[in-house]
Order: sequence, then structure tokens, then C-alpha cells
Amino acid sequence: MMETELTIVILAAGLGTRMKSAKAKVLHRAGGQTLIEHVVDTALQLTPPDRVFVVVGHQADQVRQALGARGVGFIEQTEQKGTGHALMVGREALSPLPGRLMVLYGDCPLISAGTLRRLIGQQRESAAAATLITTLLEDPTGYGRVIADAAGRVEAIVEQKAATSEQLLVKEINSGIYCFAAAEFWAHIGRIRPDNPAKEYYLTDIVEILGRAGHSVRSMRISDPAEVLGINNRIELAKVDALFRGRKLEELMLAGVTIEKPETVTIDSSVRIGMDTVVEPFARILGSTTIGEECLIGACSILRDSRLGRRVVVGPFTSIQEAHLEDDAQAGPYARLRMGAQVESGAHVGNFVELKKTRLGAGSKAMHLAYLGDSDIGQGVNIGAGTITCNYDGVKKHATLIGNGAFIGSNSTLVAPVEIGECAYLGAGSVITHAVPPEALGLGRSRQVNKEGWVRKRRKVALS
Ligand code: UD1
Ligand code: MG
Repeated sequence: MMETELTIVILAAGLGTRMKSAKAKVLHRAGGQTLIEHVVDTALQLTPPDRVFVVVGHQADQVRQALGARGVGFIEQTEQKGTGHALMVGREALSPLPGRLMVLYGDCPLISAGTLRRLIGQQRESAAAATLITTLLEDPTGYGRVIADAAGRVEAIVEQKAATSEQLLVKEINSGIYCFAAAEFWAHIGRIRPDNPAKEYYLTDIVEILGRAGHSVRSMRISDPAEVLGINNRIELAKVDALFRGRKLEELMLAGVTIEKPETVTIDSSVRIGMDTVVEPFARILGSTTIGEECLIGACSILRDSRLGRRVVVGPFTSIQEAHLEDDAQAGPYARLRMGAQVESGAHVGNFVELKKTRLGAGSKAMHLAYLGDSDIGQGVNIGAGTITCNYDGVKKHATLIGNGAFIGSNSTLVAPVEIGECAYLGAGSVITHAVPPEALGLGRSRQVNKEGWVRKRRKVALS
């Protein structure tokens, strides 16, 4: 259901003093994404991007950047004078928009689109000027308390700092998520005054103001408080992160991914994994990584922004970043692939092998102890243990080209730029500085010399 008559405003201008951070609160990450990205992505499930607005202030440019190409609108709140003030600054742009107005807080990222749809439905069916989401918390400290009558009519929301000792006992809290009749909201917002200990314009005061004007405000109490957990400090950030991670793991397991010791595994919300893939303990799978079916992700491996085909095997302790492994490729244990490394189908990268900006062609093997940088390696190539591409001359990077079927002897040093022809063969221990033609043997080492009887002669000299 996309509602064209719905405007969503997300408040994200505050610094978040309680985070004790130089970084704006909504730019902190949980579940692998910034808090603001989570909230905006949920909003976009409900209404088109031209009806989603983010109020920015602290580090406005970084917040805009974090939201990239989502196409949402921004409203500048240069001075943060409270949640009510954050909406006042958007009045000119937003008040002509008809229908309903939903307010979300950027520090409340777990709310689901499903719950918000229920909120819209409830508001649509009632005659109230507003409906707000509330929940019961065992420890409501820090949240605004909901003062309601027995019939669920909300009379006021009282902030922690302004509450009486009796009001502090109330366990029903304000989630900070509201759906207003837009016309009523804009007609009354100007009445909010900064008459509280913090001298801020509290959005929550709108409830009493609407009440005094003869409008009713309803609450929609939800049973799972996890959805409305607000983040104000790093303890809460860690809790919300754990909830996101847990949700993601459950979603993957229900979709047919085996996750061993899931409590040790970290997977970002944006990751996709195919059926019958097995993820071993302590793996971290991050960013935009996608993994095909029937893969094995070894213990303690870290994958970021990478693409894996089907039946790919990643050995334990392997680091894979911005790399592509095609079907049936293998990497690790203890391999490092980065910056556009590409392991084509059936190719193997073994222990202590690093690939940087390098293509390893189909069926090729580099099984032990090698550095392959800025290289294009064909199909069916064997890279011996200890092979090093000298790709950097101190100023510039240079390319190494290795043709199909070539055999690179162990401990070869390839001084780039250099080209090894198809099916060429390099003797072990060679330092190669010139091109080797196809099917040639390249040798770049001094000859071995054996001196007969050398040991016996030496002993005699020592004894005399
Ligand atoms: C707010 C509510 C409280 C509710 C709680 C739920 C008010 C006055 N209080 O308190 O009733 O229980 O959320 O989590 O609304 N912001 C701006 N501009 C400002 C001030 C804040 O954009 O001038 C943004 C912040 O960046 C943040 C959000 O509004 O994303 C909430 O602000 P915060 O200071 O965290 O409010 P709480 O004290 O948590
Ligand atoms: Mg908050």
C-alpha cells in the first residue's frame, strides 16, 4: 500500500549529546546501516520519496550523503531548539501538503512498516486529530510518559525532566511516532512554547494543545517494545544492533541458510544469501555482499561488499573485500582478496595468498604464499608457492599479464610491467624482467655449482 496522501517527516537534526560522540547520532550504525537509513527505508515502503522529508542540522551534509540517491527531501534546522521546533521550520514547505502527516524520529530505527500501516489505518478510521504509538516499559526512564484516560484518550505527554513523581510511575511511554491529520497539526503547531526546564519546543506538547482546541488524540499501544526502542546512548545502540542482527539471522535461517552458533555470527541487513549455504561460527558478512546457493563460509572469515556465485568455498580466516568469486571458486584458509579481485569459476586461491585488482582465470590455481597485484591471469594457470608480482616501482603501479595455461615456478618474482605468454613455463626462483614468449621456458636465476669433495678438504684445513 503506497499512500500518496501521506507525508512523512523524520527528525534527525540533533547531535545526541548522550552518545558522547563528535558524530551526529543518526549517523551511528546498527545492523550495518546508519540509523537514519533504516528509518528512511521504512518510510519509503509507505509513501513516495517526494513525500518523505528529513529534518537535518548537525552534520547535515553527511546525513544527506548517507541517504545517497533515495530521492527524499531535506529541511534544514540550523539551531536545534527541540522536536517541536524541528517541525516548525518545515511549516512553509510541508503545510500545503494534504492528507496525513506522520512523524518519525531518526533515533528509533526498529519500527516496522507493518506497524506504521496499522497506525495509518487506525488514524484513518478514527475521528481523532492524531494517533500515537505507545508501549509499556518495565523501566520507562528517559521516555515521555503518556497520560491517558481509561478510554485510551491521550490527555498529555510529560517528559522525564518535567514530570511529577507520580507521573514518573507511569509505565506507558511515548514512542515518538505519530500520525496526524495534517490540517489540524499545522493549524496548531505555532502554539508550542519553550516553557519547560530545557527551554525547548517539545513536539509532545501538541497533544495537550489539540485537546484544549477540542480535538481528540488516541494511542495505539503495541505489545513488542523492541520496535520503538529509541537510541540515546551507546548501550542502547548495542542493544538495537543485536536486535537487528538477530532479526537478520532468523530471516536467513527461515529462508534455508544454515548458521552455526548464530550468536557469534554478524550479518548486515543488506546482505543476501542463497539456500543451503552454510555459515560457520564467527563469520562476518557485511555491506552489499551477495552469496549464492550451497556455499560454505568458513569460521572467522570477513566478507564485505563482495559477490559469490554458487558452491563457492571460503576457508576459515579469509578476508574478502570488493571481490567477485564465480561458481565453484575456492579461497582460503587465510587468503586475502580485495579491490576488485576476481576469481573465475573453479579457480582456487589457497593459504596466505593475496589478490589485489587481479583476475584469476577459470580453473587457475594459486595455492600457497603469493602476492598477485594488478594482474590479469588467464585460465588453467598454475601459480607456484611464493610467487610475487612486483607491481609497484615506488612511484607507479604496473600490470602483469599471464596467458592461459602458463606455469609459474615457485618463488618467481615478476617485475611489472611484464607479460608471460600462453603456456610459457618459468623455472622456480626466477626473477623475470622481460616478456616470456608463448610456450617458452623462462629462466632468470644463476646456475647451480657443485664443488666435489669440498667438505672433506675444509675439514683437513681446520684440523691441521
Ligand atoms: C523524544 C520524546 C519523548 C519520547 C522519545 C522516544 C520529545 C520532546 N520527547 O525524547 O516523549 O519518549 O523521544 O524516543 O519529543 N531532533 C531534531 N531537532 C531538535 C531536537 C531533536 O531533529 O531540535 C531529533 C533528534 O535528532 C532525534 C529525535 O529528534 O532523532 C528525538 O530527539 P531526542 O533528543 O532523542 O528526544 P528524546 O529525549 O529521546
Ligand atoms: Mg531519543
